Amino acid sequence: MKISGLLLFLLCPFPLLSEAVDPFRTFTLAGLAAAAQYHLYCRFRECCSEDWIPLDVKGLQEDLDNRLFGQHIASEVILKAIRGFLRNPEPAKPLVFSLHGSSGTGKNFISRIIAENLYKKGLNSNHVHQFLPKLNFPDLAHIDKYKQELQAIIQESVKACPRSLFIFDEMDKMHPEIINVIKPFLDYNDLVENVSYRKAMFIFLSNAGGEQITEFLLNVWKNGKKREEVQMIDLESTLTAEVYNKENSGFWRSNLIDNNLIDYFVPFLPLEYKHIKLCAKATLKARGFRTDEDTASQIADEMIYFPKKERLFSVKGCKTVSAKVDYFGEPK
Ligand SMILES: Nc1ncnc2c1ncn2[C@@H]1O[C@H](COP(=O)(O)OP(=O)(O)OP(=O)(O)O)[C@@H](O)[C@H]1O
Ligand SMILES: [Mg+2]
Repeated sequence: MKISGLLLFLLCPFPLLSEAVDPFRTFTLAGLAAAAQYHLYCRFRECCSEDWIPLDVKGLQEDLDNRLFGQHIASEVILKAIRGFLRNPEPAKPLVFSLHGSSGTGKNFISRIIAENLYKKGLNSNHVHQFLPKLNFPDLAHIDKYKQELQAIIQESVKACPRSLFIFDEMDKMHPEIINVIKPFLDYNDLVENVSYRKAMFIFLSNAGGEQITEFLLNVWKNGKKREEVQMIDLESTLTAEVYNKENSGFWRSNLIDNNLIDYFVPFLPLEYKHIKLCAKATLKARGFRTDEDTASQIADEMIYFPKKERLFSVKGCKTVSAKVDYFGEPK
């Protein structure tokens, strides 16, 4: 039977008007009607259901392998952590990442990739929320209002859908009082005001620690070692210490680190010439331009690299590649 037909049948008032109503039948029919209604509604409007939240870990892996360049640590850590978290029916706490690295290395890009694979509507999902200090919390005079609003958004979102995702950009510019609002939601608490936050995910992005990561990579290069040999463990303690001690890193004096609420501090490595070429090719392809070596090299040549002598890392990562593609891109 077609859904509309089934609905008509289920919503038919006849059983309710009948004198010899079987209460069990009425109850069952009412339940079925509600289920059918919900099903119909969720076909067209986003719900907290598998159709809208496919949690596509395989797709995530493919995207990380094919679309994210030069970030072998971030790719591996994020994939394994998300996979394990989603497999666990009873996680002890929400999953919390803190992504660190210099400009244009892919922190927002990976957040987009995660959102696109876990949620059908990606970053536009009602279950995904992004916060940027200068956009969402611009005026210190209104900090109390922002705090209340943020708390309400997190509570309402998780209440409506436990698999909610919260992305906080530019954490180094986030007011400590805002960070303190987030804290109770990240903790091992079973319930905060009767809602469990253990299936939610939080991602913090910042440039803090970027210089230390670059310095480390420069030494790796000077010692003739390969970038791909660098492991998470090599950078994690440097990163935590730097982020913790730096006054404007956003985590300073906040007790997120003290209480071990961040599960993974993820380093984003500075990008090299070869990665810029890959970014150029990907962007050329996405815009329908020719993706030949020459054009990609022309674009990569235009970027600024440091240290001045070695010209090893791109100052802006892949960030300005898009504008250069507009300039150099040739129709097929
Ligand atoms: N590692 C990468 N692999 C593929 N593309 C990348 C990578 N890094 C950056 N890009 C491209 O550059 C764009 C800008 O990068 P993104 O916004 O993720 O940088 P960011 O790390 O958030 O920088 P910032 O610290 O300045 O905010 C992305 O939208 C993407 O197209
Ligand atoms: Mg960014």
